[in-house]
Amino acid sequence: MSSARLGVNIDHVATLRNARGEDYPSPVKAALKCQEFGADGITAHLREDRRHIRDADIEAIKSQISIPLNFEMAPTNEMVEIAIKTLPNACCIVPEKREEVTTEGGIDVKRNHNILGTIIGRLKKNNIKVSLFVDSSIDQIKLAKELGSDIIEIHAGEFCRKVHDRSDFQKELNTIKEAASFAESIGLETHVGHGVTFDSIVELSRINEVKEFNIGHFIISESLFLGLETTIRKMKTLIAEG
Ligand code: PXP
Repeated sequence: MSSARLGVNIDHVATLRNARGEDYPSPVKAALKCQEFGADGITAHLREDRRHIRDADIEAIKSQISIPLNFEMAPTNEMVEIAIKTLPNACCIVPEKREEVTTEGGIDVKRNHNILGTIIGRLKKNNIKVSLFVDSSIDQIKLAKELGSDIIEIHAGEFCRKVHDRSDFQKELNTIKEAASFAESIGLETHVGHGVTFDSIVELSRINEVKEFNIGHFIISESLFLGLETTIRKMKTLIAEG
């Protein structure tokens, strides 16, 4: 049995809204419904190009939900200012490229060492927990700890794609397991996210060290067919069975 939490990422409710320039579907309404249907937290990524979530969404979501808000952000001063104003429960720092469709990999902690050190310090001074979105690399995890991160979130995209294709996923799974186990041994909390589906959660939820899953695109997509409530409850059941 896994007691890992489910954070629902609602970015793509905003994608749908923005596609027509209307004010629906509302990300705030989605966040409140996710909360009602058993989500343990809400995740939202304010991208630098504001392609989905907007500044006003973040503010409204934070003020209306009672479950934790996990604010995904690029390591920039602009985002730090917004985080300090919003005071989410946690900030998950992710790499960001304008031209990418989605976050393609974890942040390079070594290359961004100085800026991450400054940002982590500022966020923690404001009592915001810090998570670094990383690939399952022991070196990156070590550096995350040295910089004072509280949490690492492991990018599970490659594993999830392989489960979906039914190709050889065992190696990817083992790397995630080893990374989670190492993170726990040095006192970091482990989260997992990106690309997670009903198929991939089955194996991932058996990794005891994982304390939280952040899942967006699949939950919002599957809601078209099953409804948001059934999708969230089914995902939570699959996590609990892990
Ligand atoms: N976790 C992080 C750090 C992410 O950047 C994303 C995508 O924004 C997710 C989780 C959710 O990924 P998905 O939408 O593929 O479930």
